[in-house]
Amino acid sequence: MTKIDHIGVVVKSIEDALKVYSGLLGIEPLGYEVVEERGIKVCFIQIGDTKIELLQPTRDDSEISAYLEKKGEGLHHIAYCVEDLKETMTKAKDLGLRPLSDEPKPGAHGAIIAFLHPKMTNSVLTELVQHNH
Ligand code: CO
Repeated sequence: MTKIDHIGVVVKSIEDALKVYSGLLGIEPLGYEVVEERGIKVCFIQIGDTKIELLQPTRDDSEISAYLEKKGEGLHHIAYCVEDLKETMTKAKDLGLRPLSDEPKPGAHGAIIAFLHPKMTNSVLTELVQHNH
């Protein structure tokens, strides 16, 4: 069944953001990962069946730097699990949705991901995630 894999939140500092999750709610992060190609450090926090993904830029030209500069910290995207990412990207194009890249990108934990342009998804940046089972 399709489920929400995670909700992405852009932050300036993961450490500061963890005050809410670890400090207040008592949930320890699943771990940290730097995705070099995208210039981001990510931290996942398991909340029930889904996760919060905290995204922090590691360099000025990271994937989220322009967003952070323009809009500031906050809700960034919703990610859905898919079985076959390539197939889903083709289907998205057929439906008039616009993937932000032609090929899948590396996600955290060995997953592959793709984003859909928010203009075609009700202004909600939408991520598709295929996990390696
Ligand atoms: Co994400």
